[in-house]
Amino acid sequence: MEAPGYRRRQLPVLLLCVNGVMTLGFTGACQRTNVCNESLMLEKLPACGKFFEDMMKKVDSKKWCNLTEFIMYYDNFTQCTEHEAKNASCFWPNPLTEGFITGIHKQFFSNCTSEKVHWEDPPDEILITLILIPVMLTCAMITLVVWCSKRSDILV
Ligand SMILES: *[C@@H]1O[C@H](CO)[C@@H](O)[C@H](O)[C@H]1NC(C)=O
Ligand SMILES: *[C@@H]1O[C@H](CO)[C@@H](O)[C@H](O)[C@H]1NC(C)=O
Ligand SMILES: *[C@@H]1O[C@H](CO)[C@@H](O)[C@H](O)[C@H]1NC(C)=O
Ligand SMILES: *[C@@H]1O[C@H](CO)[C@@H](O)[C@H](O)[C@H]1NC(C)=O
Ligand SMILES: *[C@@H]1O[C@H](CO)[C@@H](O)[C@H](O)[C@H]1NC(C)=O
Repeated sequence: MEAPGYRRRQLPVLLLCVNGVMTLGFTGACQRTNVCNESLMLEKLPACGKFFEDMMKKVDSKKWCNLTEFIMYYDNFTQCTEHEAKNASCFWPNPLTEGFITGIHKQFFSNCTSEKVHWEDPPDEILITLILIPVMLTCAMITLVVWCSKRSDILV
């Protein structure tokens, strides 16, 4: 059996930690959304597209639907958009870069059927984990709140 005093001392520390993490997370998010310079980002994105275009011209156009042939350039292109978005203090991905990337997709992959392009899906285990983490966090918070209110009932 645990001494009850031990648990009572742990709880405020835990709440302080949760509070600290949330405060840090929210301030970080606010600071980054503040100053997204969309015009700067839109100015820089075409350079990424141009680089990708030049690279794709070196690839046989019959192989444009085979992702393994150009995954390196595509990766570089995605990183380029991410870099430019972040440099303009914008989140990545964001609707404007998505629109730009979709335009590039139309230019090169409009004739590819989804069967031919082998986009890589994350394995099921990773998807399930990604879904389960927020669910479990929510459960943990609810349990904590219920547990706290029960304890204050007993203490009063
Ligand atoms: C955004 O970037 C442009 C250059 O593309 C610059 O002229 C403008 O001053 C920037 N705006 C802000 C708010 O930094
Ligand atoms: C795609 O390209 C790779 C490397 O050249 C090749 O091994 C593979 O068979 C190709 N896949 C298709 C579906 O053409
Ligand atoms: C990725 O792109 C940058 C320029 O945007 C270039 O300097 C670099 O060599 C490229 N890397 C690869 C692996 O193609
Ligand atoms: C990052 O953005 C600033 C303007 O905010 C610009 O002067 C600088 O050249 C950019 N750096 C890169 C690597 O694009
Ligand atoms: C798609 O096919 C059309 C008609 O065959 C052709 O004109 C066009 O250039 C092709 N686009 C790409 C990206 O291969």
